[in-house]
Amino acid sequence: MGMPGVGKGTQAVRLEECLQVPHVSTGDILRSAVRAGSALGRRVKDCLDGGDLVPDDVMGELIGDRLGRDDARAGFVLDGFPRTRPQVDTLDRVLDRMGVPVERVILLRAEEDEIVRRLAGRRVCPGCDAVYHLETNPPISAGVCGRCGSALVQRPDDAETVVRDRLRLYREQTLPAADVYRERGLLAEIDGVGTPVEVFERIRSELSAS
Ligand code: AP5
Ligand code: MG
Repeated sequence: MGMPGVGKGTQAVRLEECLQVPHVSTGDILRSAVRAGSALGRRVKDCLDGGDLVPDDVMGELIGDRLGRDDARAGFVLDGFPRTRPQVDTLDRVLDRMGVPVERVILLRAEEDEIVRRLAGRRVCPGCDAVYHLETNPPISAGVCGRCGSALVQRPDDAETVVRDRLRLYREQTLPAADVYRERGLLAEIDGVGTPVEVFERIRSELSAS
């Protein structure tokens, strides 16, 4: 969990590799549905572009389907879900059915000016969802994804006015969801400032201590 642009995706990719379990990013799933022009994609495109949250019932169905797949049987890293109080209940129900618990919740933290700087410089790959930053994590060849060769783009929701709305929604909707995990003693708040490697080491030592 954490504000838009705090580094959830960047760190979840590292955790996926380290733990050998799939990285389930609801943002990536939704963006790929939009690119494919599927019924789900057509339904959620305006929400994504405008930085609004997709309705909880749509997200519930999406996460139930994704976690029901075979590759999720041995565990998974969730990135971007749950992000509202009702989504916490949905996840509880899905995990109850699967007979697995939430083991740990990582909340990454950074100041808003750092977030704005990160999102302004972010470039993403529409082919494989790789994430870059013009200053802190540039691709080897300017404008081109080093992993799959597609041309890099800016996300429509990284426009400054949209970022402000996303930050507001985070404070209003997602912090109360994080509070539930704090009350359950599952939440670890991690400083998200520093190099991606430094942040990852903090997460890793938190996970190995629990
Ligand atoms: P989603 O894709 O989840 O977006 P988000 O939460 O706004 O988060 P971001 O992906 O923007 O940031 P991030 O924390 O992953 O940061 P990143 O690693 O890229 O969701 C998008 C939309 O989908 C939502 O707005 C909503 O419409 C919908 N949606 C998704 N899930 C939903 C749900 N559960 N319910 C309802 N709607 C939902 O890093 C950002 C930049 O910083 C990159 O350029 C990166 O290279 C750089 N960076 C990362 N770490 C560092 C570091 N340590 N130092 C310097 N730079 C860094
Ligand atoms: Mg992300």
